[in-house]
Amino acid sequence: KNIVILISGRGSNMQSIVNANIPNAHIAAVLSNNPNAAGLAWAAERGIRTASLNHKEFASREEFDHAMMVLIDAYEPDLVVLAGFMRILTPEFCKHYENRCINIHPSLLPSFTGLHTHQRALDEGCRVAGCTIHFVTEVLDNGAIIAQGVVPIVDGDTADDVAARVLAVEHQLFPQAVADFVAGSLKIDGKRVVKQNQAD
Ligand code: GRF
Repeated sequence: KNIVILISGRGSNMQSIVNANIPNAHIAAVLSNNPNAAGLAWAAERGIRTASLNHKEFASREEFDHAMMVLIDAYEPDLVVLAGFMRILTPEFCKHYENRCINIHPSLLPSFTGLHTHQRALDEGCRVAGCTIHFVTEVLDNGAIIAQGVVPIVDGDTADDVAARVLAVEHQLFPQAVADFVAGSLKIDGKRVVKQNQAD
């Protein structure tokens, strides 16, 4: 299966997926809206095709997303993975990749959609934090949930402390979710994802 990974920054989740050497998964490209994303250089050094489209050079979100779709589709993806891709996507984009685009979000959805999730969890006095991998729909951070990981919040934690603890879990869960998708074992049933064996 062809996989296209979209990043905006350091790309540690992308690295975790690449390093997992998932059976039957071909990382066709790593793409970014940020030409300076550190993860692009990391991928290129490993012989993975990379490209970027700077969203600041487009007049509108629609035009940027459309250009991104054309770029992505050149790699004929079976799965588009948003790994720290910090852009809100148009309905057109979400529809085009319906049921074949997944995102990682650093909170236990449906709590804390959007930005600054760990600080908001601290501000609310939460005793746990975590991450969610979900299918992408046109409603932000709202698609069917594939996997979630939980970590404790302990007294004295800063948002950076929580982020680091959650990130370690992200790196475990994301390659597994990609592997499950590639193996064909994720069945979407409304907002639920049921994990099945191929033999079921
Ligand atoms: C991750 O915490 C992800 O959940 C969030 O942004 C961060 C990206 O980190 N959306 P990286 O670029 O994968 O290192």
